[in-house]
Amino acid sequence: MATKTVTKINKGLKGSVKIPGDKSISHRAIMFGAVAEGKTTVEGFLAGEDCLSTIDCFRKMGVEIEQNGEDVIIEGKGWGGLEEPSEILDVGNSGTTTRLMLGILATRPFHSVLIGDDSIAKRPMARVTNPLKQFGADIAGRDNGNYTPLSVRGGGTKGIDFHSPVASAQVKSAVLLAGLQSEGTTSVTEPALTRDHTERMLEAYGVEVQRDGLTVTVKGGQTLKARHIEVPGDISSAAFFLAAGAIVPHSEITLEGVGINPTRAGIIDVLIEMGADLSLINERMVGGEPMADLIVKTSSLKGVEIAGNMIPRLIDEIPVIAVLATQAEGKTIIKDAEELKVKETNRIDTVVSELKKLGANITATDDGMIIEGKTSLSGGQVQSYGDHRIGMAMAIAGLIATDEVVIERTEAIAVSYPNFFEHVEQLKN
Ligand code: S3P
Repeated sequence: MATKTVTKINKGLKGSVKIPGDKSISHRAIMFGAVAEGKTTVEGFLAGEDCLSTIDCFRKMGVEIEQNGEDVIIEGKGWGGLEEPSEILDVGNSGTTTRLMLGILATRPFHSVLIGDDSIAKRPMARVTNPLKQFGADIAGRDNGNYTPLSVRGGGTKGIDFHSPVASAQVKSAVLLAGLQSEGTTSVTEPALTRDHTERMLEAYGVEVQRDGLTVTVKGGQTLKARHIEVPGDISSAAFFLAAGAIVPHSEITLEGVGINPTRAGIIDVLIEMGADLSLINERMVGGEPMADLIVKTSSLKGVEIAGNMIPRLIDEIPVIAVLATQAEGKTIIKDAEELKVKETNRIDTVVSELKKLGANITATDDGMIIEGKTSLSGGQVQSYGDHRIGMAMAIAGLIATDEVVIERTEAIAVSYPNFFEHVEQLKN
């Protein structure tokens, strides 16, 4: 288990970093490439542990995948070409691998077993296994198919019309993927708009996708055609440096090539509302996704309220938003964010307990947290609890804390941002 000590930056963070590839888009590029017909090439792939778990699972189903850092070549086998795995599919720490792959496995006429780490074993899967059972898939696991290990025998036949009780892009994606191999049409309606990378990328792979407000519909029997995918930088990774740039005195940071898909860009809106000095330049489109370079400078911030439809647009950024809020004047209220409880850790508990250890004025609520600023953070010993985003949020807190912050279990950061600490070093001057 790795431990990292982070100390206060006095001279500011300065310079540019190229933000690593988007995790959500990297997973989808591999999965869709595997079931597409022909050779898919990917550039800008995130070689983090979660996406490597996806590659490993699809290799076990007979798909040839060559990965060299950020470059990947996938020899797509078409839907019918996936083979029954003779080994257990290990999803590691990755919820996206688990839930999206279940959507693909639900219609495959073979048996497979999925297993993951201790964190995955606690995360609810019924939100996808229930609709997938409606397609005709036979899925078994603890608590009636709610927890890994899961065993799947695919058997989808007829499309479904599904109203999801949770706003989750993973649920939406799993149902759409199963729908593509079922008869008739399949539609998913979600309670609030979630990230739409699946819809955008399916279209890029030549699939017809109909969108009407909160409902997405696909016709069954469509094939995916291999293509080249360029992955933009992950705004969820950029968020740590957006926060650092705003709160570390004397800073000016440029973050290159960041995806700014509106279903993901809530952090930008929140930073602007907090009063951050943030600008977007070089806006462009790559493979159906908008991207820009972001410039952030040290700012004086004020507290905000974050709730409702905004939550799915920044759900993964809440740990670092909490750090930002400790440096904002006044109260920041985060509500309607119960989903935080079922992430890699219960992020209401882990964010609140670890920031309290550093002297933050932060209180957990049933569906979020309340932070009173501005407080000077002290040093101390904190934990990632094996959650990559908690580890990175604590590191950003360490950059402004009066004494050193010692973070335990920083190895978890490799899940989404293997060179995070190198980028921190690069920006010190
Ligand atoms: C993801 C969707 C979100 C997000 C996760 C990645 C995706 O999860 O938190 O990190 O790639 O579809 P939910 O679908 O559970 O909200």
